[in-house]
Amino acid sequence: MDIARPLDSGNAADQQISGSPLAQVRRIDLPRIADPSAPHGGNLTFIEGGEHIPFDIRRIYYLYDVPGGAVRGGHGHKALQQVIIALSGSFSLILDDGYERQRFYLNRSYYGIYVPPMLWRELENFSSGSVCLVLASERYDESDYYRQYADFLRAVGRA
Ligand code: TYD
Repeated sequence: MDIARPLDSGNAADQQISGSPLAQVRRIDLPRIADPSAPHGGNLTFIEGGEHIPFDIRRIYYLYDVPGGAVRGGHGHKALQQVIIALSGSFSLILDDGYERQRFYLNRSYYGIYVPPMLWRELENFSSGSVCLVLASERYDESDYYRQYADFLRAVGRA
């Protein structure tokens, strides 16, 4: 997974990032119980409200049967917080604060990426059979979305 931060070269974009929502993005490691003993085998991961996720979970949704070439997401959220987990298979998550883009490769079901509000996100390169699980801080609310990138850029003061 690429969690590298852009190098500080002193330009305007880099100065922006310290106050950027990108600075809050982080990997959240979840408990993993390995049970190789017969008759079980395999791993078990659990998520407890108030314990592993930095917000109260009000909604869960998942993306599945996504064709390999598809791009999901392509929007921003005003207030919604999310944790995104590759429950099965793999995909790429691109997060963009209007100035910088960071790319994450998710391919394990025992960690998630915390995504704070005010980031444009795209999901792509879904492997066959992959499942993207999303834990969300709010119920579905269309008015919380930026559906147009130009609107998002305006909201973050870039356009
Ligand atoms: P959208 O958020 O655009 O999906 P993605 O970002 O994964 O491409 O949602 C796709 C459609 O599903 C849209 O019509 C809204 C609807 N939807 C709900 O009704 N409830 C939900 O919780 C979500 C996430 C989407």
